[in-house]
Amino acid sequence: MNVNGTAYRSIWEQPDGRAIQVIDQTHLPRRFVVATLSTLDAVAHAIIQMQVRGAPLIGITAAYGLALALQVDARDTALQAAATRLAATRPTAVNLAWALQRATQALTPLRPEARAAAAWRLAGELAAADVAENAAIAQTGLTLLEQHAKRRRGEPVRVLTHCNAGWLAAVDWGTALAPIYLAHDQGLPVHVYVDETRPRNQGLLTAWELAAHGIPHTLIVDNAGGLLMQQGVIDLCVVGADRVAANGDVANKIGTYLKALAAHANGVPFYVAVPDATFDAACPSGAAIPIEARSGDEVRQVQGLDHAGDVATVNLLPSTAAVSNPAFDITPAALVTGLVTQHGVLRPQHWQDHV
Ligand code: MRU
Repeated sequence: MNVNGTAYRSIWEQPDGRAIQVIDQTHLPRRFVVATLSTLDAVAHAIIQMQVRGAPLIGITAAYGLALALQVDARDTALQAAATRLAATRPTAVNLAWALQRATQALTPLRPEARAAAAWRLAGELAAADVAENAAIAQTGLTLLEQHAKRRRGEPVRVLTHCNAGWLAAVDWGTALAPIYLAHDQGLPVHVYVDETRPRNQGLLTAWELAAHGIPHTLIVDNAGGLLMQQGVIDLCVVGADRVAANGDVANKIGTYLKALAAHANGVPFYVAVPDATFDAACPSGAAIPIEARSGDEVRQVQGLDHAGDVATVNLLPSTAAVSNPAFDITPAALVTGLVTQHGVLRPQHWQDHV
């Protein structure tokens, strides 16, 4: 996607094959900063600190992290240690474990001397596949937006989204935002209501992406969505996912569940856009999905620009204040109207018949 007229992806290779570059999302939307990651340590740190974030992107970044680790030491023990370290960076998005499992399965049978190059190639293939799959999700979602557009008779289709499931969260396109980009590019008017998504404010990333693409949108606080749905201002909700369990329960950013409840109560369709790597057949239900608990400081503090335009961190509470900061929640399958996938729109309880 374009940033000030230049085409970017969220992650790309250095030509010498010894580092990757990423858009450091901890600086957005205030500043556009590119970070170079050339070691396993740097990659693990980038995932934990959320310089890179979003289920698909952390999977691809981890695959490159493994390749960088193997450039230093490609023996069996080093391969296992690097994979274990990367897998532990964030627990909820299954894309991370999926990418590492794909890589270790492909690399373990190889001679150590062949592993680093093969790992780098594989990471590139996973990145390319992510882009192609999200383009297919865009097509599937477009059909839904077109149905709503007919009812709206030329007025913009009004979509509510939570967190950031745009191109910053994947390699390109994104998942939930992919159909919105395609619709806009094809002249179908859309208006996106963007949940702020406290405490990390990923909604600001979504608003930044949409603004860069010229898509009309409105940022709302997390508690506003229910009222808007009650008032008939939202035609449909579309969000991303970090894991879909075998029974169709969906883990996504904290607050998703409340939006799904409000959508259900108000007859608003609630869609979840999902690439194949986010499905976890081994996980029976949402109750078995590990929920990441992040630092309470993310709740106690806010960051922004001060009057001089410098980045400032402000304490809302003393550092001793008791805080709980679960980063994800579970939306039961019964609240999900459909899963928007490269295979079409699937009923959540029956995704395994198609994936
Ligand atoms: O904590 P984050 O910002 O990594 O959480 C991201 C989300 O919850 C996204 O909605 C999800 O990963 C889908 S991204 C296509």
